Amino acid sequence: MTQITSASIPEVPQRRVPGGIDAHGLSRSFGDVKAVREMALSVPPGKVTALVGPNGSGKTTLMLILATLLRPDTGFVTVDGIDAMRDPQGARRRIGWMPDTLGVWESLTCLEILGTMGRLYGMSGAEADARAAEQLEWVQLTEFAKRPARVLSRGQQQRLSLARATVHRPSVLLLDEPANGLDPGSRLRLRDDVRQMAADGVAVLVSSHVLSELEEMSDRAVVVRDGTTVSASELDDAADRELRYRIAGPENAQGAALTRALEERGIPYTHGRGRQRAGVVVAVSGRQAAAQLLAELVGAGVPIAHFAEEGSRLEDAYLAAERPAAQGSSGAGTAAGPAANAAPQEGETA
Ligand SMILES: Nc1ncnc2c1ncn2[C@@H]1O[C@H](COP(=O)(O)OP(=O)(O)O)[C@@H](O)[C@H]1O
Ligand SMILES: [Mg+2]
Repeated sequence: MTQITSASIPEVPQRRVPGGIDAHGLSRSFGDVKAVREMALSVPPGKVTALVGPNGSGKTTLMLILATLLRPDTGFVTVDGIDAMRDPQGARRRIGWMPDTLGVWESLTCLEILGTMGRLYGMSGAEADARAAEQLEWVQLTEFAKRPARVLSRGQQQRLSLARATVHRPSVLLLDEPANGLDPGSRLRLRDDVRQMAADGVAVLVSSHVLSELEEMSDRAVVVRDGTTVSASELDDAADRELRYRIAGPENAQGAALTRALEERGIPYTHGRGRQRAGVVVAVSGRQAAAQLLAELVGAGVPIAHFAEEGSRLEDAYLAAERPAAQGSSGAGTAAGPAANAAPQEGETA
């Protein structure tokens, strides 16, 4: 976009033509199932946006729509300012799509897969082959260049899939449950690769139903439930936001001294999620307040063996998104019940 400016013309705020993805009013039904209902979200360049929600909440459907592989019943998507409904080809050139499995390509060799993809994006044969080799080197799979993709481990297949999704140097990258089934080492590699893409200015959207998978790679979180976007937030490391701390005394000591000290100070506590764990959970307004509370408890002679932040930035964003709905629903159990049950946990399987 060229913007003409002149000293004699007062500056008028321009309509933002965003890089990355801007979507609103998206709906898509499959028969009676409203998979996506009036969803809106933006995926800004240079950041990793986490798309989190339970299984069946519409994440894959939304991503297929954003990738222009599925037509929405209603709604608008722009990709780097390009209207994806009017110009799906133009939008598609800017998008990298990594589905949750490598799919039907598995009998081709790694080199063939990447070369074929390059040709589909209009590269010449030589160009596509050179790019394929380059991509394989990037994801450290050069030794598998001539092997069929089916011999790769899940982690290696995911890396090949990432290489395939980025053959054409997209400015938007959509990753559907990429960490699903990865061992810890592969997960760390994926995190580094994704962070690198964002550092290079790519707009990244990455989905998961397991919050902990995305915690370390995300800058923002969009929470979806029942086909709607329920919140979008920056995962700032704000020092003064409300935090939860788990506090416990030494093993075998009765926790009475701790709970009495909290009660005397009018500090509410719960046993938090995971009742088998020792101690109690309190809310404090930031790390400074946490430090003060710890000093006060120790000063009052309360034996403390454990004092640590509970949960994660992503978990907090997720639970915060649950709260309004939990209050709004009537007759659906206790206020805490639905929220606690709905939060996806490590170990939950697809
Ligand atoms: N092709 C399809 N045909 C029928 N129902 C579908 C189809 N794709 C998704 N759905 C339904 O839409 C809802 C959202 O699914 P999906 O987008 O896959 O959720 P998620 O990726 O969050 O697990 C689910 O109820 C699912 O069963
Ligand atoms: Mg899915």
